[in-house]
Amino acid sequence: MHRYLMEMLQCPACRGDLSWTIDDADGERIESAKATCAACGTAYPVREGIGVFLTSGLEREDLWEETETELTRYLREHPEVEARLMGAVPDALSPADLFYRAQLLEGRGDYGEAARLAERALSRCYTPGYLACHKSQIRGLIDRLRAGQGPVVDLASGRGALVEAMVRELPRPVVATDFSPRILRRDRRWLRHFGLYDRVSLLAFDARRTPFRDGAVHTLTTNLGLPNIRQPGELLRELRRIVAGMFLAITHFYPEEDEANGRLIREAGLASLLYRRSTLAEFAGAGWQVDVANSQHAPAAPTPRGEILEGAGIDALPVAETSLEWCLLVAR
Ligand SMILES: C[S@@+](CC[C@H](N)C(=O)[O-])C[C@H]1O[C@@H](n2cnc3c(N)ncnc32)[C@H](O)[C@@H]1O
Repeated sequence: MHRYLMEMLQCPACRGDLSWTIDDADGERIESAKATCAACGTAYPVREGIGVFLTSGLEREDLWEETETELTRYLREHPEVEARLMGAVPDALSPADLFYRAQLLEGRGDYGEAARLAERALSRCYTPGYLACHKSQIRGLIDRLRAGQGPVVDLASGRGALVEAMVRELPRPVVATDFSPRILRRDRRWLRHFGLYDRVSLLAFDARRTPFRDGAVHTLTTNLGLPNIRQPGELLRELRRIVAGMFLAITHFYPEEDEANGRLIREAGLASLLYRRSTLAEFAGAGWQVDVANSQHAPAAPTPRGEILEGAGIDALPVAETSLEWCLLVAR
């Protein structure tokens, strides 16, 4: 993380001030440090350049950690499966198998081939309409950020598709965040490999309890973060608290009458931000003025399963074919 973030941050648990001990820095980048809350005494580390501001008390399902741990264990126990996965002609693999092969290549440091295979896999996982809508929303978001200045904080950055696009196209500093330290460590290696790391800071925190001071964030973005945050609760109030400028959220909505997907959406605690009506009501209730921009509809289908990695999936939703409304929420 970069030094400029220090004055934007506070204790995510009690909102007290932080006092910083920096052990290792490279110019403006803090590599190793400890931030201690003057009020409650909680200490937050910066390790490998990643500030970790996670708190106890919020249930957290880190799917990146779970999937990678499970995949590593499974392949250790079944080396013949790994040999088949890595030895097959890429285009003969199911898209899910191809995606996991790309992840394994990443783990071995073969980023170039991993990037090529992951892109091929993902282009075969989604309908052409889904891919076109997603691309159009990313373009629309980036175009709105061209005129502004200062850091852009991205929520629930995951593998960083939006972060990477912003770094390539905008001269602004970008803060990638996620509640999974594992995916941020992966992003760090990836961005460094492709020479994209200079302007990126990495912070691990839960979007429902962020470490930012009131109004500290001028521009907040997210690419499909909202539909992935389970039990969002007071999420939009928390974001309202920290954002003094604009929040741009790429998202998609399910049809309310789609019961096949609706059941799982409710079970997963995702219902409030996966439907247009409730999402807009949540934004308004949290004090945001929100506009729906670039609305587009496209068919969506369940992502294919692995055949060599039997049953391994990509996305949990949808579980049945549906039509999604894509849009860019512009909230102030
Ligand atoms: C699939 S990603 C979305 C795509 C990503 N923004 C991109 O541009 O590539 C969703 C991310 O949300 C993260 N996530 C889920 N719940 C979260 C929470 N409460 N706080 C922070 N991150 C969360 C997950 O770890 C995951 O990495």
